[in-house]
Amino acid sequence: AVAVGRRIRSRGKWKRVARVLREVEEGCEGSVGRLRQVVDAMAVEMHAGLASEGGSKLKMLLTYVHTLPNGTEKGTYYALHLGSTDFRALRVHLHGQQSSVLEHEVEQQPIPQHLMTSTSKDLFDFIASSLKEFIEKEGNGSELSPDRRRELGFTFSFPVKQMSVSSGILIKWTKGFSIVDMVRIDVPACLQEALARKELDMRVAALVNDTVGTLALGHYHDSDTVASVIIGTGTNACYLERVDGIIKCQGLLTTSGYMVVNMEWGNFWSSHLPRTSYDIDLDSESPNPNDQGFEKMISGMYLGDIVRRVILRMLLESDILGPISSKLSMPFILRTPMMAAMHEDDSPDLREVARILKDILEIPQVPLKLRKVVVKVCDVVTRRAARLAAAGIVGILKKIGRDGSGGITGGGRRSDVKMKRTVVAVEGGLYSGYTLFREYLHEALNEILGEDIAKHVILKVTEDGSGIGAALLAASHSSYNVDTAK
Ligand code: GLC
Repeated sequence: AVAVGRRIRSRGKWKRVARVLREVEEGCEGSVGRLRQVVDAMAVEMHAGLASEGGSKLKMLLTYVHTLPNGTEKGTYYALHLGSTDFRALRVHLHGQQSSVLEHEVEQQPIPQHLMTSTSKDLFDFIASSLKEFIEKEGNGSELSPDRRRELGFTFSFPVKQMSVSSGILIKWTKGFSIVDMVRIDVPACLQEALARKELDMRVAALVNDTVGTLALGHYHDSDTVASVIIGTGTNACYLERVDGIIKCQGLLTTSGYMVVNMEWGNFWSSHLPRTSYDIDLDSESPNPNDQGFEKMISGMYLGDIVRRVILRMLLESDILGPISSKLSMPFILRTPMMAAMHEDDSPDLREVARILKDILEIPQVPLKLRKVVVKVCDVVTRRAARLAAAGIVGILKKIGRDGSGGITGGGRRSDVKMKRTVVAVEGGLYSGYTLFREYLHEALNEILGEDIAKHVILKVTEDGSGIGAALLAASHSSYNVDTAK
């Protein structure tokens, strides 16, 4: 009788586990029909954000970048990249021939955690010192003439309201940064002051978002590149917009007739997004509630934590493993790379899943059946993220008339559409380093667009585009432009 009672209790517990799993699956459901609604909402919000300041949660920020690098840029330029947990300094040598490979050197350092929430002076002093060290190591190899001031492209991957290509104020922090005295302050001016304190003679020639740097490098290599997407710690996109479409800024004149617009799509919101109670809790406990809703469902900073929340609820509601480790209640303890490692564990007994649950979350001896459930949770959360990112990309294509829905010839069949080759530059670990994420994203692109159209849309990974692209833009906005081919 005791054994039977135990079996019945155990069955009840597994049922509760299954119920939580089913609810998550239903909540994250992203059918192609729903994705198409997200596509439409994205295109509508893009229009609204371009029509008036504050017209949408999509800020659609002007970048003052009108022309993209084309391979004729020459000289040595520097770049700094601040925007995730690491900080990078780069030196880029440009040879002015499209065919020549860029050479660049990079130095990467983690940003000390306390600096992410300290003061602007502390953060920028740290950056300026690191840059100074980087430059002091350079010896004679810089190819700079001694009378020439060094020039820098500053990749600052946060929402900035730009006044020109080299000035702009921080609108708000994202991705866990919070340095209160920086908000509404001119970002390049802060850096310039810190450089002066360190007696480093350098000019900030361009201030760029990481999406813009990525687009610049993508375009440098392939002139069919019209947009770029970052799916890393955060997520965002930018694209080339016709200036006459930027209604909120009338009278804007550019030589090319285009301007790169930084969408800040991480803040996109639509009632069509498949949102669960886990997303709501994550948002309300975050330092920026009601902000960056799309980002919180897609990017690397958050996916691991969504999975952690689901596992926590499963164990609490089912009581399947008895008392719960306190680690499992710690926000952000399960980082996305760990989550991806569990998801991609292909050992028959899910050894890696067991290891991570034990080492990171301090849950020992998880039965195989439950490990399988954990893998399924990772799958559901990642698949939703990848499919939403795909819908976002198609939203941009729709806005610029590259989704195959316009220009239908004669019979009006979608397959008759003449589609231009359309390249989207992509950067960020989720896309480049997480196979299943990438596969889900491509699958969704095919479903939404149909294979005939999707085959004209090429996603190309750029490497270090956010940094190298900033150096390219520093070159095209150099004050020495006389000797820099434009
Ligand atoms: C966040 C930032 C955005 C950046 C993105 C990717 O969404 O607000 O500016 O491009 O992360 O790093």
